[in-house]
Amino acid sequence: MKKSISTFLKHPTKDNSNRSANPPVTRASTILFNSMQELAQHEKNIKANKKISYYSYGRYGSSTTIELENILKELEQAYHVFLTGTGFGGVALAIMSLCRPGDDILVSDNVYGPTKEISENLVKEFNINAIFYNPDNFEDLKNKVTKKTKMIVVENPGSNTFEFQDLSKIVKLAKKKNILTFLDNTWGTPLYCKPLKIGFDLSFTSATKYFSGHSDAMGGSLAVNKKVFKKVMFFYKLSGYRMSADEAYLIIRGLRTLDIRLKQHYENAKIVIKFLKKQKKIKEILFPHNPSSKNYKMWKKYYTGANGLFSIVVKSKKKSSVIKFVNSLELFGIGYSWGGFESLVLLQELRTKTKYTQTRQYFRFAKDEHIVRLHIGLEDPKDLIEDLKRSLEYIK
Ligand SMILES: Cc1ncc(COP(=O)(O)O)c(C=O)c1O
Repeated sequence: MKKSISTFLKHPTKDNSNRSANPPVTRASTILFNSMQELAQHEKNIKANKKISYYSYGRYGSSTTIELENILKELEQAYHVFLTGTGFGGVALAIMSLCRPGDDILVSDNVYGPTKEISENLVKEFNINAIFYNPDNFEDLKNKVTKKTKMIVVENPGSNTFEFQDLSKIVKLAKKKNILTFLDNTWGTPLYCKPLKIGFDLSFTSATKYFSGHSDAMGGSLAVNKKVFKKVMFFYKLSGYRMSADEAYLIIRGLRTLDIRLKQHYENAKIVIKFLKKQKKIKEILFPHNPSSKNYKMWKKYYTGANGLFSIVVKSKKKSSVIKFVNSLELFGIGYSWGGFESLVLLQELRTKTKYTQTRQYFRFAKDEHIVRLHIGLEDPKDLIEDLKRSLEYIK
């Protein structure tokens, strides 16, 4: 029977030996075999990416991580899914497994901070050159492609400023020039956007966010096509990247309600945005909320849904008053990450050089325009609006 994705997420895995509705958490280093021949055959099967239910050694994962890999393989429609201990591990795995000295990588200027940092600082030490392109200008990307370009690193929409790029245009350009493509799809998740189907070689999601959904687990998922599988597997095995069985279990549990949670985050965000749109102190809302909003067309072209994460552009000559606004919110926690059940807020310092990264090269906002990122959680949006209304008073 052909099942919908919502049904699939409720029934992906069972524990046949214990008869429980959930898979067991298999913590293991040593896996036991009946003979040397059986062990050798099993290793061969893993190398050929045959369907398996356990690995030959715990460093590669356990039956619990395989359960998660299988769910994500279906969701991503991938040849294979590599699981990492944190989301960022998946970004590092993609770049470090495929780029080599002398290569250039083209990186979208709006990527998440540590992706910028690995591109600017770490790969340089391996003689890999990162060039940043303007996410709002496809021609800029096109003009920066050279014979040395190995990979295009895209994050869509971009962290904090939420530019939506024309994804199939990027893939078409890359295929013509034999360049690999990577997409950080954490915002959309493979439920709403399937990068491998669009033609990307690597599709990444931080499982820490909406996959787990409860702010208590970390992990990364790097889904790949057959073309890059062998090279990524080579690096994966030798780098020791791995997700623990406990985190895999929590992420499997989170995935069962991914569809329902995402819908509710989006519904709540729409209600809050309706209120925010009427506020004079807010110059722009960086979310594809209606057909006239910037990026709506590109969102509609590639995504079947949205969620609770967006930014607002607050206009104020007094940055301290914007900080006061953020600090005075009672229901929005101040902290990194997003995708959990709760509302969060952060003032993003994108204009200035940080200890770790250079300033953004393409930044369209004026000096008195401050980017505040909001994650709308699963609280009652009426309460969130009351909280925002009260705190907006502080902005001068
Ligand atoms: C867009 C994006 N990509 C990657 C990551 C890294 O994920 P993790 O925090 O699980 O390492 C994050 C984390 O905030 C993110 O927002």
